[in-house]
Amino acid sequence: MKRERWASRVGLVLAFAGNAVGLGNFLRFPVQAAKNGGGAFMIPYLFAFLLLGIPLMWIEWTIGRYGGKYGHGTTPGMFDKLWNKPISKYIGALGVVIPLLIGSYYLYVMSWSLGFAFYALKGTLTSLTTHEQINAFLQGYQGVVQNQYFHSIWPAYTFYLIAFLLTMYVVSRGVVKGIELLAKIAMPTLFLFAFFLMIRVLTLGTPDPINHPDWNINLGLGYLWNPNIEYLKNGKTWIAAAGQIFFTLSLGIGVLQCYASYLKEKEDIVVAGLATASTNEFAEVILGGTIAVPAAVAFFGPELVKTGGAFDLGFKTLPLVLGKLPYGWLFATLWFLLLFLAGVTSGVALSQPLVAFLEDEFDLPKRKAALIVAIALFALGQPIIFLFKHGVLDEIDFWIGTVGLAFFATLEVFIFNFAFGTSKGWEELHRGASMKLPKIFYYIMRYVTPLFLTGIFIYWLATDAASKFVMKGVDPADRPYILAARIAIVLVYAIIAVLIHIAWNKKHQKEA
Ligand code: TRP
Repeated sequence: MKRERWASRVGLVLAFAGNAVGLGNFLRFPVQAAKNGGGAFMIPYLFAFLLLGIPLMWIEWTIGRYGGKYGHGTTPGMFDKLWNKPISKYIGALGVVIPLLIGSYYLYVMSWSLGFAFYALKGTLTSLTTHEQINAFLQGYQGVVQNQYFHSIWPAYTFYLIAFLLTMYVVSRGVVKGIELLAKIAMPTLFLFAFFLMIRVLTLGTPDPINHPDWNINLGLGYLWNPNIEYLKNGKTWIAAAGQIFFTLSLGIGVLQCYASYLKEKEDIVVAGLATASTNEFAEVILGGTIAVPAAVAFFGPELVKTGGAFDLGFKTLPLVLGKLPYGWLFATLWFLLLFLAGVTSGVALSQPLVAFLEDEFDLPKRKAALIVAIALFALGQPIIFLFKHGVLDEIDFWIGTVGLAFFATLEVFIFNFAFGTSKGWEELHRGASMKLPKIFYYIMRYVTPLFLTGIFIYWLATDAASKFVMKGVDPADRPYILAARIAIVLVYAIIAVLIHIAWNKKHQKEA
């Protein structure tokens, strides 16, 4: 069967950028930077970008394009081609399992921004004026409690269905008419909204000159960007920077490899990769670094931002801030639509690997594959939504979304460097490239990136995994749910592994 190819260079860079630009750029990055030395955070961030992010990104693009040449859009088939051992395809299974599991709750979480955009447009959101109110609103929306704002989870569920169906519709239209077209519309719109919000934030001045004459936009920008060199002595800062780079570039999941499998054989992946990464960094450092945190500090002072996480900043603090502005409902609507656009382009990216897997390894037509994926994502999503308050989502997010990614990426770079061979990989990376990378990147890819990754993986395992594993601090009533979530993870892996086994058996029969 003939595989699809991205239709244009601009389209493919936008599609990859849509995959990379997400809530991480607008919420996670500024909070990480503010908590880890402000401007000084940019030093480990740049190191992680050069030694871990960019090299691993090129590795994943190379693996993807190479696999695509042999008709494989996912890592089971790709790893099999890199390393001709039975086990390699079962390692590659992770590149299908991880996006499937993350996708099943990501589509729910990203639908919250659609719901909030609706309540912002309606004016409900910006009529809330205190932290208590907005907290109650969010908890009511999520179905954690029933209150005067929400009696049930059905409003949230309706927005989830809309977001879910939209995502599946795009995926079912295929790579060019679905994902690429979506990116061409969504990404420029997203940038436009972000510019608009950035300018509004930069012109905030001193919002409350009588009560808080020293809280102003300069304080906000300074809060995020003034370098505190002390932080560089702390190993945690370096781990946080590496974690952010990993997250923001969508590494270690299987989606970059999948997108790269639709590249033309002679596509310049050195330059296209750089263009994508630059777009992402612009959205992250310039736009993401100007909007949420400086605005929150200008209105509520520096103390507040220190306590909340990334999510609180975007869904609680920022609506309160924007609600105080003239036409606040409009800015709040733009803000949540921005997050929603960032979310849909990531949602399709997470759905595509399983679609590609079914198309490529089972010769299913696109529509049928998309339908099966929709059913799988939906079935997995339901318990996560309805058992949200028992911590099921957080549990899967930790094992898959944090530890799983580093584990998968570590195995991947070892296969790339030591089974396939760095020099073959280097040649593959440069096929069709209009510029040759400095040789130093060869050594970085071969030695520094694997060491860096192994270090992060071990660090996460050592600091968080043990206490998580024994469910330290978990309410006994929630334990059965957490256990069930773990069993589900293992089952999903087992099902994909069985499917791989079946697909490969069939292929061998065909060849014989
Ligand atoms: N890069 C996304 C962000 O910055 C998050 C993300 C990580 C992601 N891995 C992904 C999105 C895979 C889609 C697919 O928010």
